[in-house]
Amino acid sequence: MYTTLLTSLENGIYTITINRPDKLNALNKDVFTDLNTALNEIEKNNEIKSVIITGAGPKAFVAGADISEFGGLNKADAMKLAKRGQDVFLRIENSAKPIVAAVNGFALGGGCELAMSCHFRVAAENAKFGQPEVNLGLIPGYGGTQRLVQLIGKGKAMELLMSAHMIDANEAKQLGLVNYVTTAETLLDHTKNILNIINSKAPLAVAGCIKAANAVYDETKDGYALEIEEFGNAFATEDMKEGTTAFLEKRKAVFTGK
Ligand code: COA
Repeated sequence: MYTTLLTSLENGIYTITINRPDKLNALNKDVFTDLNTALNEIEKNNEIKSVIITGAGPKAFVAGADISEFGGLNKADAMKLAKRGQDVFLRIENSAKPIVAAVNGFALGGGCELAMSCHFRVAAENAKFGQPEVNLGLIPGYGGTQRLVQLIGKGKAMELLMSAHMIDANEAKQLGLVNYVTTAETLLDHTKNILNIINSKAPLAVAGCIKAANAVYDETKDGYALEIEEFGNAFATEDMKEGTTAFLEKRKAVFTGK
């Protein structure tokens, strides 16, 4: 089904592994096509509760956009390329199901941008983050200038964008770019443990949290008004009745996603 991704579904967690290890999982056109197809699958497959994105091999999450595809592109081509990447990453960011990056090595350029488009990040201790585009006479094109500022603040983001400086997993954690640092061996288990907890919650409420939190960064939306609407929507769900009743009956809620 995919030429550049490995996928597996276990206990409601869909793991997507970007699988071009000989090119450090660089994002070429095929990866974007496959990611779009995977996002369709995530939307329509009810068995999928949440998603992990990671990279194949011990060295890289994703070492960037595939630089070998840049040759001969003119301005219009380059703008199309950036728009395509941004559209796919916006789909990840706006997914109603949680999508978490398990960063297992280099997350550079488009790789850092992919990780930042996920709802949050867990990193192995060998992970490295950076936006090295200025080394190539470029700037990030897949949302990096926006999301890096959102996640770590303008001053540090400006420094990383302008200097191409790479940071390690612990510094990324100090800056709030990643939530946890694990060993390489425990990265996926740690990420799955977090998702198992999230998967036990009411899925529509989880989706409401994603939508409302994303609205903070969307100028076209009034986040407070959206929160009121989502709060109201929650009251119309069976899961809200189940959650509140279970609490009062001192039992564990069983959510159905309705
Ligand atoms: N695009 C295309 N190919 C890439 C790539 C990218 N972004 N990143 C790595 N590769 C390829 C290399 O060309 C090499 O291919 P080859 O074996 O056919 O020559 C292979 O992946 C292994 O990379 P290599 O550079 O030999 O590994 P390294 O351990 O010496 O260095 C990095 C690792 C990540 C520091 C280095 O690969 C790098 O700087 N990559 C580019 C990062 C970047 O600028 N990303 C932003 C792109 S906009």
